[in-house]
Amino acid sequence: MTNRLATKLLSWYHTHKRILPWRDHPDPYAVWVSEIMLQQTRVDTVIPYFEKWMKLFPTIRALASAKEQDVLNAWEGLGYYSRARNLHKAAQIVAEKFNGELPRNLDDLRSLPGIGRYTVGAIASMAFGMDEPTLDGNLRRVFARLFDVSEFADSPAGEKILWELAAQNLPKGQAGDYSQALMDLGATICLPKNPRCLLCPLMELCKARENGTQELRPVLKPKKGTPQYIHAAAVIVKRGRVLLSQRPADGLLGGMWEFPNVRVDEDPARELTKVLRTTTNLRVKRGEALGLVEHAYSHFKVIVHPFFCEAISIPKSKNLKWIKLGELEDYPMGKVDRQIARKIK
Ligand code: ADE
Repeated sequence: MTNRLATKLLSWYHTHKRILPWRDHPDPYAVWVSEIMLQQTRVDTVIPYFEKWMKLFPTIRALASAKEQDVLNAWEGLGYYSRARNLHKAAQIVAEKFNGELPRNLDDLRSLPGIGRYTVGAIASMAFGMDEPTLDGNLRRVFARLFDVSEFADSPAGEKILWELAAQNLPKGQAGDYSQALMDLGATICLPKNPRCLLCPLMELCKARENGTQELRPVLKPKKGTPQYIHAAAVIVKRGRVLLSQRPADGLLGGMWEFPNVRVDEDPARELTKVLRTTTNLRVKRGEALGLVEHAYSHFKVIVHPFFCEAISIPKSKNLKWIKLGELEDYPMGKVDRQIARKIK
């Protein structure tokens, strides 16, 4: 049985759905890759990455046997790199344990690295046609408005209410379209600011619209101010090569390459050489500044001051590598370091 909300929503979706390369695609692997890419990234940004990825790694087995460096390279620029490492690890598990095919069992799916409740619901409904709900940022906002939910949407109680609403209104046999219709509605009509209520197919059913509370929903816990860090980086070039350092496998930008750098208190030019020596044993003489580079991560912002430096002594470390200037593009880097790399090409 299809309820009123779902009927209106699906008929709107039928004529307004966005044409996206992973839609109506029977391949669960493609759905999986797209859902992981879309988790923290906008659709327009994802499309070219998705297309390139599917050419480079067309099957789960192809991904499983790829080198981590190639996987991270293909992800470079999308951010939140643990997503790529988890996809890679999960593909290896699927290749070994599930004969190269994504399992249909929800607990098995959930056991894979990087697959949480949202991705399970998305894959189950969109790839396997199962009657499973899902909930992402767009759906949270749409349901919080449709039912004028005043609980904190990012609290356990609010989450529970929103998941229940997603499940209660799900039309049997059409869960994949239902969730994707809600995503499109959230991305094109039920916008975070200035929602386009007059164009909304669900306007008459929307409690927030009735109560005039659209802009107040979803209610989110107030955020603390984002901290800001200052770093100084050493760009050490010698005979056509530059010294790069590989970040530890775990944590932010794990496994990616960067210019040796340190966090400083306030004066990057003055603090660089000393802090680099005390924290990494790398001794350098500072040269010319290259102009600063900034980047906002989800929870903090960094401002990096890169300087050309001359090496005085370099510790033996397997994380440090001299790389030909012409090969810099082969080494996966975060946004900040890629900007620095482009300055010295
Ligand atoms: N955001 C996350 N998943 C999506 C999908 N399948 N279609 C559109 N936007 C999305």
